[in-house]
Amino acid sequence: MKIGFVGAGRVGSTAAFTCILYMDVDEVALVDIAEDLAVGEAMDLSHAAAAVDKYPKIVGGSDYSLLKGSDVIVVSAGMARKPGMSRLDLATKNAGIIKDIAKKIMESSPESKIIVVTNPMDLMTYVMWKETGKPRNEVFGMGNMLDSARLKERLHSFGARNIRKAWIIGEHGDSMFIPWSLADFDGDVPREKILEEVRFVAAEVIKRKGATVYGPAVSIYRMVNAVVNDTKEEIPTSVVLQGEYGISDVAVGVPAILGKNGVEKIVEYELTEEELEALKNSANILKERLKELGY
Ligand code: 2OP
Repeated sequence: MKIGFVGAGRVGSTAAFTCILYMDVDEVALVDIAEDLAVGEAMDLSHAAAAVDKYPKIVGGSDYSLLKGSDVIVVSAGMARKPGMSRLDLATKNAGIIKDIAKKIMESSPESKIIVVTNPMDLMTYVMWKETGKPRNEVFGMGNMLDSARLKERLHSFGARNIRKAWIIGEHGDSMFIPWSLADFDGDVPREKILEEVRFVAAEVIKRKGATVYGPAVSIYRMVNAVVNDTKEEIPTSVVLQGEYGISDVAVGVPAILGKNGVEKIVEYELTEEELEALKNSANILKERLKELGY
């Protein structure tokens, strides 16, 4: 089992750390334009592994050939939004970066599944899918998994118990929503308040500590694990839709079964009219932005 990471910043390296501790990984490769960072993280991670008597091969560098043979490649490289930067500025900059990464991954490890994390994640998932030319089941994005973790945390804090299912779907952004008709837990909670809190909590974390790290990292691990260990878990995943839910040619978060083939199935639930509208609204917002990016 080999896991590749493009982007050895805080999210990428902490995701690698989580994967190494929680799974039986044979090889990890970290690639970053900041070569020293990637090499240093690889060294530090191999010491962490040895501390729990694990000895996977962990390498770092700036050369994409390190990724060769990865089962999954997690892409978190890109810019974070700087103060004063518009959403479109960020999307344009990161789309350029993703395009370049897509080309290099196809040269070095074309068989790998790709999990996109770079924001604006749904758009970058689409760009990666388009630029690699890979089938849509092999290129998908992590966002709603994290949003759903935040939802579970909020539900619990408002007294919900036995949380069996609680998802956020749609855009990994302002138009995300909770399909309450699919949720399954014990207790009564203030729905509107919870959605508001989940929508804005990432900004709050970023304001206080500069970035979100552990939430994204562990959510990445959950998706990597589902793929490499072929668990067939149902996880809300950003994937290019081709008619599902009446939506086409845009990547947006929907419930999906993840396994060794990546997205093995997009699960089409019977949503309420209002929920379906919310999902279509997310898709339309993302399509508009893709147009602005020239897709
Ligand atoms: C998050 O939701 C910023 O997308 C990142 O934590």
